[in-house]
Amino acid sequence: MKDKLRVGALISGGGTNLQAIIDACEAERINARVVFVGSDQPGVKGLARAEKHGIPSFVMEYGPILQRPCEYRLPEDLDLDDVVSKQHLFSRDQTPDRARDYCSARAVAEAKLLAEMEKFPFDILVLAGFMRIFSPYIIDKINIGHDLPRIMNIHPALLPAFPGVDGYGDTFAYGCKVGGCTVHFVDYGEDSGPIIGQKAYTIDPGDSEMDIRKKGLELEWKLYPECVGLFADGRLSMASRGKRTVVEIR
Ligand code: GRF
Repeated sequence: MKDKLRVGALISGGGTNLQAIIDACEAERINARVVFVGSDQPGVKGLARAEKHGIPSFVMEYGPILQRPCEYRLPEDLDLDDVVSKQHLFSRDQTPDRARDYCSARAVAEAKLLAEMEKFPFDILVLAGFMRIFSPYIIDKINIGHDLPRIMNIHPALLPAFPGVDGYGDTFAYGCKVGGCTVHFVDYGEDSGPIIGQKAYTIDPGDSEMDIRKKGLELEWKLYPECVGLFADGRLSMASRGKRTVVEIR
């Protein structure tokens, strides 16, 4: 059997998706192991989950950096023009200064995050309820030199519908009759990268937003380990389809 895929995980909160991945690894349902857990929030339950399973963890708080970015030195290897030109979050024509401020503050935080993660060699990075958007600075550092993207995210909606922070709330508010969750590779936009897997649930008459969250989360816990397992088994590849890059599963 091939060596186990080394999975790094980033969280911001409760870490139920992290738990699902740890459980799948420990039960050997997937050929992987979690090698570190990083959080941008101290004291969250996901960190306690890591400790319980003997997985090393760290906290790298974005908050102080984003509040006072001028107090921090930019990473020496940051090419800000390159990062700003690649990002898809701001239109360059309309908001050049905002995009530069946004990307430079993110790069400061991301350089510190990379310094923590470098202590634990990993093959893929899973964002498991990590509530920060990556800039092209860190995405390129993690992906360059590899055939496949190496950062996965789970999103609580059927992308490309309802990107952003509240996928379940948006699904409910729109009156959808079907909802779901998506695991995708991270690209330079928000929740816009190539889709690896999706699962859907039916929204029944009378379902509350809480019901939707419960149905969705239960599917997330199945979907995320499955997608990590596909990567571990070498079953993912990238293909061009029209203007898009898509994931093909062998
Ligand atoms: C999940 O709904 C995930 O889709 C979203 O944030 C939530 C995280 O939950 N990105 P948990 O921390 O894994 O319990």
